[in-house]
Amino acid sequence: MRVLLTGYSGQLGHDAAAELTRRHIPFLGVTSREMDLTRAEQVEAVLADYRPDAVLHCAAYTAVDRAEDEPERCMAVNGDGTRHLARGCAALGAKLLYVSTDYVFPGDGTAPYEVTDPTGPLNVYGRSKLAGEDSVRELVERHFIVRTSWLMGRGNNFVKTMLRLAESHRELRVVDDQIGSPTFTADLAPLLVDILQSDRYGVYHAAGEGFCSWAELAEETFRLAGRDAAVRRVTTEEYGARALRPKNSRLSKASLRAAGFPSLPHWQESLAVYLRQVRHGGDSL
Ligand SMILES: NC(=O)c1ccc[n+]([C@@H]2O[C@H](COP(=O)([O-])OP(=O)(O)OC[C@H]3O[C@@H](n4cnc5c(N)ncnc54)[C@H](OP(=O)(O)O)[C@@H]3O)[C@@H](O)[C@H]2O)c1
Repeated sequence: MRVLLTGYSGQLGHDAAAELTRRHIPFLGVTSREMDLTRAEQVEAVLADYRPDAVLHCAAYTAVDRAEDEPERCMAVNGDGTRHLARGCAALGAKLLYVSTDYVFPGDGTAPYEVTDPTGPLNVYGRSKLAGEDSVRELVERHFIVRTSWLMGRGNNFVKTMLRLAESHRELRVVDDQIGSPTFTADLAPLLVDILQSDRYGVYHAAGEGFCSWAELAEETFRLAGRDAAVRRVTTEEYGARALRPKNSRLSKASLRAAGFPSLPHWQESLAVYLRQVRHGGDSL
């Protein structure tokens, strides 16, 4: 199997590349420099040149708040860009694994979302990721859609933002009414490669076990990292971010288990491992 990996320079792409390497699976990792998803002819050319058997699509426009101010750009990358890639995979007969998000859901209630639940994104980013899902479903017969949440890895993410802010603030206001699952990219990447190597096509939810709020994640981060910054718990409305976000981001992993794939570790366990990586692995804040 030859794999084309998009988003090679991103948090998840970094760990996906490490996992493909570890399994001796030949792959070509690309960033927006080698293959800009918004340029259909470039996507087509890379696919025609490399002729992958499978595509692991980790690239995305991920700036959730900024997307509200540049919706066309966000849609061009996540919606149209994924469509270009899906069309190319269909032409080659390649499998496609598309990484999607909890933000395709509206976040009502408290029950974990099943893969069959109706979607209803609240923000531009979520709508663009859902448009990507739709293209994948429509165009590629052998596809996987894997929705994940709250990633932490090598790159910018909430945990690193908290550690950075704690260097200059004694108290931080953090949202306490959005509940989800932090997911370590080094846990998710091997699972994605397992899924990609299988023929168990379909939609899956894959995230760290257990649930918490952003405020609880911040508190646990400070506890484990030995920082004494205080967390002031605020509501979504009090915080007032540019983009709306689902309050319930809980994802049910039932379809993953039913297909025989392993669960990811509990988010607290993974956070501890992740923080050791940040501290000792030369991963800058
Ligand atoms: N971050 C989260 O908390 C989260 C939660 C749920 C789902 N997800 C999904 O998980 C996947 C990985 O997220 P991540 O946090 O690892 O992303 P990330 O660190 O923000 O990296 C984004 C990657 O996408 C690439 N990219 C951006 N625009 C592109 C374009 N026009 N053409 C080609 N490549 C482009 C970037 O390449 P350049 O370096 O060249 O810009 C980079 O490699 C995404 O599909 C995201 O939607 C993320």
